[in-house]
Amino acid sequence: MENPTGSILREGGGKEEEIYYPPSDVVENANLSRYMKQKGFSTWEELYRWSCENFEEYWEEMARRLEWYRPWDQVLDDSGKPFYRWFTGARCNIVHNAIDRHLKTWRRNKQALIWEGEDGSHRTFSYLAVNREVSKLANVLKGMGVARGDIVSIYMPRVPELIFSMLACAKIGAVHSVIYGGFSVEAVRERVGDAQSKVLLTADGGFMRGKIVELKRIADEAMDHSPSIQTCIVLRRTGHAVNMQAGRDYWLHDLLTLPIASTKCETVPLDSETPAFILYTSGSTGKPKGVVHVHGGYMVGISATFHMTFDLKEEDRYWCAADPGWITGHSYIVYAPFIEGATSFIYEGAPNYPYPNRWWQCVERYGINILYTAPTAIRGLMRFGNAWPSRYDLSTLRLLGSVGEPINPEAWRWFHKVIGGGRCPLMDTWWQTETGMFMIAPNPTTPLKPGSGTYPVLGVVADVVDDRHAAKPVDEDGFLVIRKPWPAMMRTLLNDPERYVQQYWRGEQSEVYFTGDSARKDAQGYFWVIGRVDDVIKVSGYRLGTAEIESALVSHRAVAEAAAIGLPHELKGSAIHCYVILSQGIEPSEGLEDELKAHVASEMGPIAKPERIQFVSSLPKTRSGKILRRVLKAKALGQELGDLSTLEEQLSLQQLSMLNR
Ligand code: WT7
Repeated sequence: MENPTGSILREGGGKEEEIYYPPSDVVENANLSRYMKQKGFSTWEELYRWSCENFEEYWEEMARRLEWYRPWDQVLDDSGKPFYRWFTGARCNIVHNAIDRHLKTWRRNKQALIWEGEDGSHRTFSYLAVNREVSKLANVLKGMGVARGDIVSIYMPRVPELIFSMLACAKIGAVHSVIYGGFSVEAVRERVGDAQSKVLLTADGGFMRGKIVELKRIADEAMDHSPSIQTCIVLRRTGHAVNMQAGRDYWLHDLLTLPIASTKCETVPLDSETPAFILYTSGSTGKPKGVVHVHGGYMVGISATFHMTFDLKEEDRYWCAADPGWITGHSYIVYAPFIEGATSFIYEGAPNYPYPNRWWQCVERYGINILYTAPTAIRGLMRFGNAWPSRYDLSTLRLLGSVGEPINPEAWRWFHKVIGGGRCPLMDTWWQTETGMFMIAPNPTTPLKPGSGTYPVLGVVADVVDDRHAAKPVDEDGFLVIRKPWPAMMRTLLNDPERYVQQYWRGEQSEVYFTGDSARKDAQGYFWVIGRVDDVIKVSGYRLGTAEIESALVSHRAVAEAAAIGLPHELKGSAIHCYVILSQGIEPSEGLEDELKAHVASEMGPIAKPERIQFVSSLPKTRSGKILRRVLKAKALGQELGDLSTLEEQLSLQQLSMLNR
């Protein structure tokens, strides 16, 4: 029998709901269906229930899909909770699973990575070739004094060498800290400083929309204030002239010609709890958090979720259009696809460069089967109309994915219908830098509701709760929490274990992980994520802390005080709006507004550029001096102001009436 796609289901109360059922062949061939049969369950619900009640057993089974140098003594050690440890006593290396084990099979000649530059050039690497590049780079790093446990900062454009650098670090037991190539001086300096990196890997520049992003120049400025850096290794990408400081800066291509750069390099066996990487993310204070992920549990969590949700088949070509510099790229461009032996495609540049056909051209040219992207990109491309995608053969697509922020149903439907031809399940994956892996996400057999990530993945227990950890009734908003540990969970925050305990677990001994998001659950148990409850703004899916934006503003001599909030934006999801109190004697002007916007962009990076800056003479604050951003937001949106009993002065409120003009 034909399964209806996009049929409307009528519920008891006469409420109409849009549900998309998966085509029957998709269900039949899904990796999940095979696993379900193997386990002897006839419905996903039963399988899911089993996986939660026996979550250690489930994750142990998933761990057995991978290779270990030495097996674990214990699956989960919760004695030091919330500092959970997984697969204790085991020895492994994520790179052994991502590369080495494929070299023993036919996959050594399989394409691992296909890269297309913005200029139209391409490069392809088999698993054998990836191993060669990674091994050479790893030997270079060792030659430059990088030892086990050292944190190497990587600030590179979207080129294969970024991926090789990450793998090279992990291979030798060093820890990588990738700094997104769109970040600027202050963001780089802050991250390099917190990690105390001795080595920075960068490039002369990168290409974006045909222009050069001067990474080395930005890195130079950051390094001026980063005393820990001893060595800077520079990839030549653009060929434009850059400053090379003797004794500190080295061209990568020079180092690769040295005898140390041999193609043989041992992958170091490590304890499963050894950190593999740090990834910084914004929180509610001005200091970015260094989220720590480890080799063992992380590789288990990401590979299992990739297998079940993205349903990879041996012959697939998979494209995750995120940047390797974000967790999406770490987990689902670099590590999980390589562990699963996928052929991954990546594209260097902007989706609409030189024309809005660029992505669809790539799908056709490379025969992409799975496309994973973000709502902001979908909205951006949707805006150019259907004529662009309709000229390309998108029939190879089998599965679609979305991540980064709630996807609005309109964008969901467009992606599903126009790009996926109505036949591709759309996996809306909810997760975080901290969770490392998908937490709430469908699998290809799940009936879909546009805008919902559906259910938690196998082995994950999510809930919507109130302040006291009690479950909220159906359809009511609350805090989104996770009730059981999972293997790819962050282990701690670098240099700040206390903040890890307080912020995510709300104290020692707690077993409830607070995600920082609000959500609700509907009558069928579908999760609907609403957004952040902390001072984090999601701009085009990128996470930015209001405090970081404010401190960038205040670093300008004209600014005395600043507040940043996120307001809805058609393409970006949210856009940054700032309220600024000027320093004594400085007059507001349009020129100054532009100058301040540019200042934030140059301090933090173009993604942090405010949409609008308004000059005010005071800001609403609590008695203790905390800026009430929710008041600013409610006011800007013309909503009720809520509880104002903590407001410091009525004057601010009067000022607020000025804000909306
Ligand atoms: C925050 C995490 C996970 C990789 C990219 C972002 C929001 C993420 C979804 C989704 C609704 C989502 C949440 C979350 N978010 N995916 N599918 N639906 N919201 O990682 O930068 O750590 O941000 O992104 O607010 O907490 P991140």
